[in-house]
Amino acid sequence: MFDARVSKLLNEQINKELYSAYLYVHFSNYFTDAGLIGFANWYRVQAMEERDHAMLFIQFMQNNELPVTLEAIAKPEADTSHHLTVLKEGLAHEQFVTASINAIYEVAHDVKDYRTMQFLDWFIKEQAEEETSATEQIRKFELFGNDAQGLFLLDKDLGMRTYAPPSLVL
Ligand code: FEO
Repeated sequence: MFDARVSKLLNEQINKELYSAYLYVHFSNYFTDAGLIGFANWYRVQAMEERDHAMLFIQFMQNNELPVTLEAIAKPEADTSHHLTVLKEGLAHEQFVTASINAIYEVAHDVKDYRTMQFLDWFIKEQAEEETSATEQIRKFELFGNDAQGLFLLDKDLGMRTYAPPSLVL
């Protein structure tokens, strides 16, 4: 019942989600090195969420007896010349992932694959939330990040983030 294009795109999305996790571990390491452990924590949690996203795609494919092929994960590439550029790279990456999810949705819609569309609904909402939080981070940094005390409080705030498993259960 599954269109080959949908299956291929779902499989490719696994790699994109794992790459997202890898990229955010890279960001977390960057902030650890910079002494900003709150920012590092925020991206560590984000990496765990991205791993979960990959696992959800795997689970969905396996639930529908679609073969899963794991490909190599690329080395993270991002401009880490400044704290703010890292945050901006994060937003740009989320926009890339949103476009990728939308592209799968479009094909699923074209072939009337309602099951995949329903599965992707959660990700459409999740991407909107992730873009919002990435945008908020940039705004807050632009407002407070250039002042030592502001940066200290911002880092403390981001250090409060805790991991929670995804609300989507398959
Ligand atoms: Fe799972 Fe933030 O892309």
